[in-house]
Amino acid sequence: MCGIVAYLGPRQAQEVIIKGLKRLEYRGYDSAGIALMNGGLNVYKKKGKVSELESTLKGLNLESHIGMGHTRWATHGEPNDGNAHPHYSATKKLAIIHNGIIENYSALKQDLISKGHSFQSDTDTEVFIHFIEDIKEKEQCALEEAVRLALTKVVGAYAIVVMSLEEPNLLIAARKGSPLVIGVGKDEFFMASDATPIIEYTNEVIYLNDQEIAVIRDNKLSIKDTSNLPLTPYVQIVDMELEAIEKGGYEHFMLKEIFEQPRSIMDCMRGRLDSASGRLVLGGLRDYVNALVNADRIVIIACGTSWHAGLVAEYFFEETCRIPVEVEYASEFRYRNPVIHEGDVVIAISQSGETADTLAAIELAKSKGAIIFGVCNVVGSSIPRATHAGAYTHAGPEIGVASTKAFTAQLTVLYMIALIVAHKKGSISEQNYRELLVELENIPGKVETVLAHDPQILQIAETFKDSTNFLYLGRGYNFPVALEGALKLKEISYIHAEGYPAAEMKHGPIALIDEEMPVVFIATKDSSYEKIISNIQEVKARKGKVISVITEGDTHIPKMSEYVIEIPATLEPLTPLISVIPLQLLSYHMAVLRGCNVDQPRNLAKSVTVE
Ligand code: G6P
Repeated sequence: MCGIVAYLGPRQAQEVIIKGLKRLEYRGYDSAGIALMNGGLNVYKKKGKVSELESTLKGLNLESHIGMGHTRWATHGEPNDGNAHPHYSATKKLAIIHNGIIENYSALKQDLISKGHSFQSDTDTEVFIHFIEDIKEKEQCALEEAVRLALTKVVGAYAIVVMSLEEPNLLIAARKGSPLVIGVGKDEFFMASDATPIIEYTNEVIYLNDQEIAVIRDNKLSIKDTSNLPLTPYVQIVDMELEAIEKGGYEHFMLKEIFEQPRSIMDCMRGRLDSASGRLVLGGLRDYVNALVNADRIVIIACGTSWHAGLVAEYFFEETCRIPVEVEYASEFRYRNPVIHEGDVVIAISQSGETADTLAAIELAKSKGAIIFGVCNVVGSSIPRATHAGAYTHAGPEIGVASTKAFTAQLTVLYMIALIVAHKKGSISEQNYRELLVELENIPGKVETVLAHDPQILQIAETFKDSTNFLYLGRGYNFPVALEGALKLKEISYIHAEGYPAAEMKHGPIALIDEEMPVVFIATKDSSYEKIISNIQEVKARKGKVISVITEGDTHIPKMSEYVIEIPATLEPLTPLISVIPLQLLSYHMAVLRGCNVDQPRNLAKSVTVE
């Protein structure tokens, strides 16, 4: 939710910032703005994408070596020019960009209004900068002290950057609950919501921690915490290639990321799994493996696609480890009064590692004594830092808003965790363990085979692109895949879609079926094969249009389906790694054919840092 970038150094600030904002657009894209010190502290902002802001800047003299920019996902106030960031203070001597939510902004605003302040926007952020200036004037203190004092009084989440007309070589940044990375170059500094705007200039970064304030003044960086304690910056080397965050010849990031899956699944297993020797190691699990082996219960918390990965994990953990598993939406878990005991292990799954509900659910479970294990993709993000231990998915940056390669990498890590635990616990036979290891290594090749069916999937998309509803049905391990297929379609093509366990269809969704209703069956040759054939017959009998994802060589289901997509056979528990691929491609092509913005679907954001 919202991307922020700032720069101080010899380059043209607006070039670095605009390029950086484009890299961060996955975080939000309803409006964008930039503040530069070019003959004054000037703010330029515009409703719409960063490219629209860029067009409005053409021809202006933007010569400046310090500045900051923002791309927004609206929380307070509709997306329009006025609500776009940066926001000025009352005197216009200060400006701010902000990612997060100030929960007590309303009370602060009332107080400021009673002191004569008036506001140009509906945002909590504008209140924040007025508040900082009010403190500065009242306390007659330096700006960094005013920022610090303000931070001790605001409630909520923030990553902010503040600039001042009176100190044209100063950037002040702070974070709590929203990410902020500082890039350290030669005589230059960068700040951003993640490392992607930074890596083409420097790979030396500092991940700011919660309650920390960074001050860059006259090209020197100092960090302190909100209690005024000076801290030594911890510089890390970020390991990310520029090509990983560019489209590399693909029309969209989503397509690139779908096609990257053979590689990303392999990367996820690299150095961890070796079927020949039976070796399976997750470094992050080592100290906590006994907690999982002895767990009375595993609770999985996640949102969106990550939650679907959790559902697959539930089936696999229960089957192989014989430990009861519950899968919870983080947003529900955190607001009920969940029963968590000390013997419980919580696994939090998150691509971004920043999802606010998941983070809050982790804190709640931690406070009740659970061991928390994280499965995240973004290295150095908040969730891996909030958990006791974890394993990264190593899928590489995922930029398309609809999650694809992160899902299959999450599944791969979850399978590996369960196999380590089951093996140690003795709840899986050596033969079954070995077969699963071998088959996990075969998965990238099998995903490649499915990707080769892309032209055929495009044809199916052409046939159904004008449909207004879709049903996705699967059983067993393919039930979460049905949910994921439906979510992908909804997210990017805006077609209403429902995912259901196939057998549940007769308890409601069957009423929807007529000749207009396409039904996608994930009907691979597994233990529910006969049962799902009956479900297909039930749809056929009501004239529904059947698209089936089947196992290669199946001659039976094609006879009862309008369209089939073949996928290679695999061991039943691993099927989701392969069966989800055609559904990702189907949703992608449908969305492109309908003229939708695939990488930046309306109203969505990739990293949901607000609840
Ligand atoms: C957003 C994204 C989804 C993602 C979900 C959870 O809704 O659009 O693609 O699955 O957040 O995000 P996380 O980063 O925690 O996996």
